[in-house]
Amino acid sequence: MSAAAPLAPPLDVERLRADFPILRQKVNGRPLVYLDNGASSQRPLAVIDAERNYAETMHANVHRGVHTLSQRATDAFEAARERVRHFINARSVREVVFTKGTTESINLVAHSFLRPRVQPGDEVLISWLEHHANIVPWQMACEATGAVLKVTPIDRRGELDLDAFQSLLSDRTRLVAMTHVSNALGTVLPVRQIVALAHARGVPVLLDGAQAVPHFALDMQALDCDFYAFSGHKLYGPDGIGVLYGRERLLDAMPPWQGGGDMILSVSFSGTTYNQLPFKFEAGTPHMSGAVGLAAAIDYVDAVGLERIAAWERTLLEYATERLTAIEGLTIIGTARDKASLVSFVLDGVHPHDIGTILDQAGVAIRTGHHCAMPAIEFFGVPATARASFAFYNTRDEVDRLVAAVTAARDMFR
Ligand code: ALA
Repeated sequence: MSAAAPLAPPLDVERLRADFPILRQKVNGRPLVYLDNGASSQRPLAVIDAERNYAETMHANVHRGVHTLSQRATDAFEAARERVRHFINARSVREVVFTKGTTESINLVAHSFLRPRVQPGDEVLISWLEHHANIVPWQMACEATGAVLKVTPIDRRGELDLDAFQSLLSDRTRLVAMTHVSNALGTVLPVRQIVALAHARGVPVLLDGAQAVPHFALDMQALDCDFYAFSGHKLYGPDGIGVLYGRERLLDAMPPWQGGGDMILSVSFSGTTYNQLPFKFEAGTPHMSGAVGLAAAIDYVDAVGLERIAAWERTLLEYATERLTAIEGLTIIGTARDKASLVSFVLDGVHPHDIGTILDQAGVAIRTGHHCAMPAIEFFGVPATARASFAFYNTRDEVDRLVAAVTAARDMFR
């Protein structure tokens, strides 16, 4: 190239923060510092307005009415599906199923894909890093079928043992189900290698993308996984809406999970003909305003730019890691070389719940506990951690407020 490609300008974080009304408030007399984005991120006005506009101008039930509002709602709902398809680069909208969220997406696969396919002694391979939503549905499926749950170990950094993963893949493995990013530790898993190794043995792969989708651009065709699950509310969108991406060939062969409206073509007492994809998996009235809000969230994130988001979050992660590490008595739990923008930590002599309460008094919101990933946390010999999880709208000043509040908590218990 004769001239260097222009660099994307860094984020104007202060201007972007103005898009998030909730961030303007004080909590316990102090300006809110919201560092619980791993649990749920905040919504920009563009999302709030999109949901409101839907409710004010087009709400009716989708796929059911010949009247104008129903047509409008259907068009908006299906446009949202196309927006998701484009965002994740799925081949077809038939591969994009709207669900309540990541948990429902995984349960759908456990019921419709796994259960009909396994025999006693078959195996499902997960990792030690999983959120409960990517453990319990497989345990339940295993209990019902006699299949066996296998767990890939991790090391003291919180990184997956890829050699162990490879040796745990067996002729009995029927599915690999792994998180893309650990919600408890921040570890980014080598998902491309995981998919390649599993596919080399003919094993399909589900990825739990709940913590990945706000941080990196996704490409289902390049990733080549068979199922991918994520939620709207961690992507600056509404709660109660999520996505299951599934390879069309597999979704097509799966029976429906829930029965009801929208998933049928015809019903008689002698039997039911199911609808085509993706509607076969969308029984009942879907979360229409949620889908519209999710599409607006995707537009917003795309406009900000996922590469710039990733770059700023990396800066925040490095700064927070450096400053927290300098606090005497603080240990970071999860030190993987590839991490998303969150820091889990413990503080000598102070229970994480006390840290959370003291920080809340200082207006700083973090999550404390086992983060719905008990095995991952207990692996490090602790019952709980404090977790600060960053979004692109967080600032270095907010990291300073976090550090000051954690230091105050430590001093209080000395
Ligand atoms: N899974 C969400 C979290 O990590 C709720 O906090």
